[in-house]
Amino acid sequence: MTSEQRTREDELVERVVRSFDACPDARLRELMTGLVRHLHAYVREVRLTEREWATAIDFLTRCGHITDNRRQEFILLSDVLGVSMQTITVNNEAHGDATEATVQGPFFVEGSPETPLGGDIAGDAPGEPCWVEGTVTDADGKPVAGARLEVWEADEDGHYDVQYDDDRVAARAHLHTNDDGRYFFWAITPTPYPIPHDGPVGDLLAAVGRSPMRASHLHFLVRHPDHRPLITHIFVRGDELLDSDAVFGVKDSLVKDFEQHAAGTPTPDGRVIDGTWSQARFDIMLAPA
Ligand code: BEZ
Ligand code: FE
Repeated sequence: MTSEQRTREDELVERVVRSFDACPDARLRELMTGLVRHLHAYVREVRLTEREWATAIDFLTRCGHITDNRRQEFILLSDVLGVSMQTITVNNEAHGDATEATVQGPFFVEGSPETPLGGDIAGDAPGEPCWVEGTVTDADGKPVAGARLEVWEADEDGHYDVQYDDDRVAARAHLHTNDDGRYFFWAITPTPYPIPHDGPVGDLLAAVGRSPMRASHLHFLVRHPDHRPLITHIFVRGDELLDSDAVFGVKDSLVKDFEQHAAGTPTPDGRVIDGTWSQARFDIMLAPA
C-alpha cells in the first residue's frame, strides 16, 4: 500500500472519530469512537470489498426481518460469535470460587410456576427423570437461605415449552432454598439440541461448516437480594458436544456428573419409579452483590 493510500485511510478514521467530540455523554462517546476505530480497523485489515459489504448489509437485513417478540436473531448472532459470552465474562468478574456464569439464551420466561423442594419441574415434557440437588452458599461458604432458583431446560426432543404450539408450561419452574441453603427437585436428563438455525444465523453456521448444536444443559438463574444474580447452566460430563457448543457457553467448572441409575433403583426421595433415572449435584457459590 502506498503511503498516500495509508494516509487517506488514517485521515478518514480520525475524521469520523472527531465527529463525536461534542457528544455530551462521555460513555457514549467512548462506545462510539471505540466502535468506529475497531470497525475501520477490520475493514482495512481484511480489505473488505464493496460486494462483501453489501452481503453483510443483506445478512443484517435478514436478521432484522426474522426478528420479532419471540425470535431475536441479533442475540443469536452475538451468541454464535462469542460476543454474548465475552460480555458475560467481562461483567461477572471472577470472585474467589464463586460459580461461573454463562449465556441466558432466548428461552427464559419470567413468571414460571413455583415448585416445592422435591417437586417435579418436568410437567408433561418428555424425558428421563433426573434428580438435581445442591446447596447455595455465599463467598464464605455460609448457606444462603431463601435464594430463588429459576430452572429451565429443553425436553428430550430438543424443544423448550415456548417452542410448543400451545401454551403449555413444562420443564421450567422456580423454587427456594431451605434454611440450610439446600435445594432439590426432579427435572429431566438434559439432551443436546440445536439453536434456532432456520434463519440467517443458521445459514452463516452452515456456510462456515459449524454445527448449531448446543451441549446438553440445564439452565439456572439464582437470585438473592444480598448477592450478585447468577445466570448459568450445568453440562453433562461425557457429552461429546462439550468442545463444540454453538454459543461457547461451556466452562469446565460447570460440567457435572449425571450419574445413571438402573430401573428399580430407589430414588433419593425414597421411591421406586418406572424406568431409568439420573442424578446430578450442583453446589452454587454466589458472589456478593
Ligand atoms: C439456550 O441454551 O437456551 C440457548 C442459548 C443461546 C442461543 C440459543 C439457545
Ligand atoms: Fe438452553
